[in-house]
Amino acid sequence: MTGSLTDHSAATARHTPLTVAELALRAGRPEEAAALSALALRSKAFWGYSASFMAAVTPELTLTEDQAAGAVVAQVDGEIGGFHLLGPTRGRSAGTEPESAVAELDMLFVDPQFIGTGLGRVLYEDARARAVAQGYRRMLIEADPHSLTFYLRLGAVEVGERLSRAIPGRSLPLLEVTLRTSGGGSVGAGRASYWR
Ligand SMILES: CC(C)(COP(=O)(O)OP(=O)(O)OC[C@H]1O[C@@H](n2cnc3c(N)ncnc32)[C@H](O)[C@@H]1OP(=O)(O)O)[C@@H](O)C(=O)NCCC(=O)NCCS
Repeated sequence: MTGSLTDHSAATARHTPLTVAELALRAGRPEEAAALSALALRSKAFWGYSASFMAAVTPELTLTEDQAAGAVVAQVDGEIGGFHLLGPTRGRSAGTEPESAVAELDMLFVDPQFIGTGLGRVLYEDARARAVAQGYRRMLIEADPHSLTFYLRLGAVEVGERLSRAIPGRSLPLLEVTLRTSGGGSVGAGRASYWR
């Protein structure tokens, strides 16, 4: 089963920056699990994936109440415009530091109506700042291929790939953001393969 990849230009078709006054970031709530899951699915579908692809990824895009409570939600004029979910890495770390030093941006989704408005950048920067504040040294991102340029633009570095858990044989770009250096050197340089 494969996903159909579509023209990236769809993501940048809209260029209407949000004004700061419209935007508030807040903690997610357990009772928002269904709403956040639906947003994640709408957002993923923005890339034009097939129905069978969307069915395959639905379980991993379905948030539990705990995940919803751990999410950071962006409210735009009172409605949920997107969210991120940050946590300790779920994959094996190739670095020398303990896994507790490595964060993972598990989810970053912008509702299609707000894609291209700068909201993704706001959510990404918030996740990055939280990872720094929580003492992580690196942040990993298993990216949808369509979002690769977005993350590169925001300073992440491609360090390898991971196999998708939902789609057999599909490999996904793995990106890394260095949050703190250790001993004066940069952490986690180089390309490697990571597996769940
Ligand atoms: C990826 C995603 C979060 C980006 O959010 P966004 O609000 O559209 O991004 P922004 O408007 O903040 O864009 C920030 C920068 O990245 C660039 N960018 C964003 N998406 C891009 C894309 N698909 N391809 C190339 N560049 C992109 C923008 O041009 C902008 O650059 P600039 O400030 O230098 O002009 C959003 O498209 C999304 O939710 N997509 C569907 C779900 C998904 O793939 N999520 C990621 C899962 S890993």
